[in-house]
Amino acid sequence: MAPRKLAAGNWKMNGTLAALAEIDRLRSDHPAPGCDVLICPPATLIHAVAATGIATGGQDCHARPSGAHTGDIAAAQLSDAGASHVILGHSERRTDHAETNAQVVAKAVAAHAAGLVAVICLGETEAQRDAGDTLAVISEQLAGSVPQDATAANTVIAYEPVWAIGTGRTPTNDQIAEVHALLRDRLSARFADGADMSLLYGGSVKPGNAAEIFAIPHVNGALVGGASLKAADFGPIIAALSAA
Ligand code: PGA
Repeated sequence: MAPRKLAAGNWKMNGTLAALAEIDRLRSDHPAPGCDVLICPPATLIHAVAATGIATGGQDCHARPSGAHTGDIAAAQLSDAGASHVILGHSERRTDHAETNAQVVAKAVAAHAAGLVAVICLGETEAQRDAGDTLAVISEQLAGSVPQDATAANTVIAYEPVWAIGTGRTPTNDQIAEVHALLRDRLSARFADGADMSLLYGGSVKPGNAAEIFAIPHVNGALVGGASLKAADFGPIIAALSAA
């Protein structure tokens, strides 16, 4: 089995019911994409987005199955609302909520137990890249954030340099290739089907740079923020991945 190609949209804290029109547009413009397409809307929209028939994901889940955790969402509740995936360890969670690798790995175990695919994010800050620490940081996050029960069927890894998210800046192709080769090596060494896990790049993916990024070895798709909000932007990214 080759890694599945995945175009994943991360809507972050954007969108109300009116945004469903973008999904209708996406589905009518791209009725039979040659890749998996996932939308991760805010929790308020999971049920409605899932009802359109598009694959739907949460943006976080709690590590516990239920209990006194005001404002949090359990993995089984995401699944109950229609989600098949959940983003975990996004840099905005790691920064805004001080999430650690230990918390991310516990959430991933909970996601798997609820039958969700965990989209586990990692990436270096600009200071870490400037200090020459990128590969060490990625190795540490990968070892610490991906649980032992991960398989190609239940886990996707997204490399998202923190400094490339929402900035319009992207690494060079060689920099992306270097990190994705490291991810593939480490996953293949640790997991029986690590060679088949989908590896996404994320950070300022746009219609204009998508094809070039998807041509990089071991890039099996993208986690797209800003450009996933409009069908006119996300559609061409899906088309580029389908053609890759
Ligand atoms: P961006 O966000 O595409 O807006 O840079 C990517 C992400 O945070 O997943």
